Amino acid sequence: MEEKKILVLGGKTGMLGQALVKTGLAQGYDVATLGREDGDMTDFEFLKEKIRQVNPHCIFNAVAYTAVDNAEDDEQNAVTVNKRLPEMLAVILKDLPVYLIHYSTDFVFSGRQRNLPYTEKDSTEPLSVYGATKLAGEQALSKLDSCAVLRTAWLFGEGRKNFVSTILKFAQERDALRVVADQFGSPTYTRDLAEMSFLIMKNHGVGLFHAVNSGQASWCDLASEAVKLFNLPTFVEPIETKDWVQKAVRPKYSVLSTQKLQQLYGYVPRPWTQALQEYIFENMETLKIR
Ligand SMILES: NC(=O)c1ccc[n+]([C@@H]2O[C@H](COP(=O)([O-])OP(=O)(O)OC[C@H]3O[C@@H](n4cnc5c(N)ncnc54)[C@H](OP(=O)(O)O)[C@@H]3O)[C@@H](O)[C@H]2O)c1
Repeated sequence: MEEKKILVLGGKTGMLGQALVKTGLAQGYDVATLGREDGDMTDFEFLKEKIRQVNPHCIFNAVAYTAVDNAEDDEQNAVTVNKRLPEMLAVILKDLPVYLIHYSTDFVFSGRQRNLPYTEKDSTEPLSVYGATKLAGEQALSKLDSCAVLRTAWLFGEGRKNFVSTILKFAQERDALRVVADQFGSPTYTRDLAEMSFLIMKNHGVGLFHAVNSGQASWCDLASEAVKLFNLPTFVEPIETKDWVQKAVRPKYSVLSTQKLQQLYGYVPRPWTQALQEYIFENMETLKIR
């Protein structure tokens, strides 16, 4: 078995998928991708055959139904991608010497009466269809021997529209923005998450891991920091969740603790502010509207 061959599901178009491909190539891996562009990934026989053909030693599943609000009215498709696909991977990989890294979300937590970062041992209670389907995906993989599930959160990064790029677009067009200030989470750079993913893969980590940048923020903190780093005069007005109508209910608090990563591998993720600065400074031109 070639120990340097990896397969990234969603590697061509997904925000995290693209970061995994970049990191994999930079670290000398032979990288293959599989996505919608290749066929129907939610078809069991297709998926099984593609995995057999590529014959990787590790698969990263960065495919997900990530449209949190749309999922409320499109449950069937969210279930297919977030629950059924991991279920299929569990069956296909059960007897193969392939290690799997799968991704989940802080939205498996409710944030109710909570102000301490969540650990991998804390009870889940998703508030949305997205959160529930992602939790079902985690559970589908819980019996696989050679699998790590990385819960991450509030991603920003190259290659796809995200909260930060959207805020910077609006901030260049308007004098003021209103942003929710009473939901708290763990902003995370896809580049850093990719690095954590390879660290866990190399150590053959098994089970649940929280993988986010250090620190915590509200959406308003994240937007304000991005606007400041981009050197814009835009006023970012803090508002409450009740004044920003969204279809899906989000946790008020879903900060994730990365203590397990630190205890097992001595790895302390850098603060999100530092990661955000790198993302913005390296992508100034792409983030500018023309
Ligand atoms: N983004 C966040 O803030 C965030 C927060 C917490 C956890 N996560 C988790 O982190 C992981 C990566 O998220 P991301 O933000 O990188 O996701 P993303 O940018 O939305 O990418 C999702 C990928 O899944 C693919 N996909 C979706 N439905 C598909 C289908 N039916 N068939 C084939 N491919 C399909 C997309 O392909 P197309 O481009 O063709 O649609 C894309 O490649 C996910 O597990 C997500 O749940 C993300």
